[in-house]
Amino acid sequence: MIRAARRILTAAVGRASHARSIQSTSALRYPGEYEYEDPKSPEDVVNVTYLLKDGTQREIKAKVGDNLMYLAHRHDIELEGACEASLACSTCHVYVKEEYVDKLPEPKEEEDDMLDMAPALKPNSRLGCQIILTKELEGLVVTLPPMTRNFYVDGHVPEPH
Ligand code: FES
Repeated sequence: MIRAARRILTAAVGRASHARSIQSTSALRYPGEYEYEDPKSPEDVVNVTYLLKDGTQREIKAKVGDNLMYLAHRHDIELEGACEASLACSTCHVYVKEEYVDKLPEPKEEEDDMLDMAPALKPNSRLGCQIILTKELEGLVVTLPPMTRNFYVDGHVPEPH
């Protein structure tokens, strides 16, 4: 019963996120849909490197406007995102390479609140779902933390869409 209630709540959070995303981008887009498009021109490209938990790295030719978390989902990079970018979890936690920290907008209060709950927090911690790529972020390097706190207390691991 409690588990079912939790799932309903999670679905509601997801719908709210979806609605917010539609408002902020295009009425025709679903969250993460934009990240499945390749860059349309060289000027559009933003190269991003993800340093993974197993010590390997993935270099991605991304584009301006990509959301770092949804970009990871497209490329099967293990960056969870349990709340679908609605700032209700910290499972999209990443460490941003120091030289890029000041190139990002200041985190919103809600992001700071969620980061406070992230395990292994560092001064360069950010939520991946709040990072939107710009040309200024060319060469961005982010590291996945050794662990995240799962939004689902029953252990359910959501699949990226
Ligand atoms: S996916 Fe939940 S805060 Fe980023």
